[in-house]
Amino acid sequence: MSQFKDLLSKLSPSALGEAIQKSQVYRSVFRVGVPDSDRKRMLVMLGNVFLHLHPVKVRKSGIRLRFTWCMGGITFFLFLVETFTGLLLMFYYRPTLEYAYVDIIDLREQVPLGIMREIHRWGAHAMVISVGLHKFRVFMTGSYKPPREFNWGVGVILLVLTLLLSFTGYLLPWDQLAMWAITVGSNMARATPFLGHEGPGAALLRLGDINLVNNTSDARFALLGGTFVGEGALLRFYVLHCVGLPLVAGFLMAVHFWRIRRDGGISGPL
Ligand code: HEM
Repeated sequence: MSQFKDLLSKLSPSALGEAIQKSQVYRSVFRVGVPDSDRKRMLVMLGNVFLHLHPVKVRKSGIRLRFTWCMGGITFFLFLVETFTGLLLMFYYRPTLEYAYVDIIDLREQVPLGIMREIHRWGAHAMVISVGLHKFRVFMTGSYKPPREFNWGVGVILLVLTLLLSFTGYLLPWDQLAMWAITVGSNMARATPFLGHEGPGAALLRLGDINLVNNTSDARFALLGGTFVGEGALLRFYVLHCVGLPLVAGFLMAVHFWRIRRDGGISGPL
């Protein structure tokens, strides 16, 4: 009976927890154990690939909702929502002239409430708004000032990437709105300085008699994969929307977060 009691005490939740924490598997993943001191808490932050992007210490005043509006965090959350729902949409959507439009109709009509597509679409609108508000907050609190100028620069690229994600996603439903919106939008690329065939400086790029920048060798042509919005453009926009831009944005977000830490954490009210 006493042996049975002994065994039972070894199986108690606290003893089990202790045994797990002492096991080689647990210690190979979590090196520090339970973070019950400031030093251990710091080691946990430094030793974890995700947590090490965060500052080890944060000022309470700096993370007040009143100060940050949590707009950077909400933008990141929306990016994750978009990545997840976008991945699900990729299982059903085919970026070809034959299927693109009908696949989107199916995603709207056949799926209850068109839920996947609607979350992705509304999430995209919300992300554009939240990144704009985040930039506004950073500007109003003067958080772009030294030592945070570099992170402001990274943020500007993130803003452009967010807008490009919206722009490339716009074509994918392949309806009239999409086609004409991208026709208008991509026509602006004609006027890119030096890179657009109607832009300033294009005439200067010549090799003897050959004009190096014409309507089949300029920025618009590279974007559309042709001289008009067609199958080439749909495929390019799809690849940029689903792979190219999210990869660059994800990488720059990691740099953005890591840099907040290097700059001494969130600025906080003066
Ligand atoms: C996808 C876009 C972006 C994401 C996910 C993002 C995320 C974040 C997060 C989570 C923070 C921590 C503080 C907070 O939540 O307010 C932050 C801070 C910061 N962000 Fe962004 N951000 C983005 C775009 C931008 C843009 C467009 C700018 C400016 C042009 C910018 C400039 C900064 C700066 C300077 C800080 C430090 C602010 C401080 O120390 O008070 N970010 N960002």
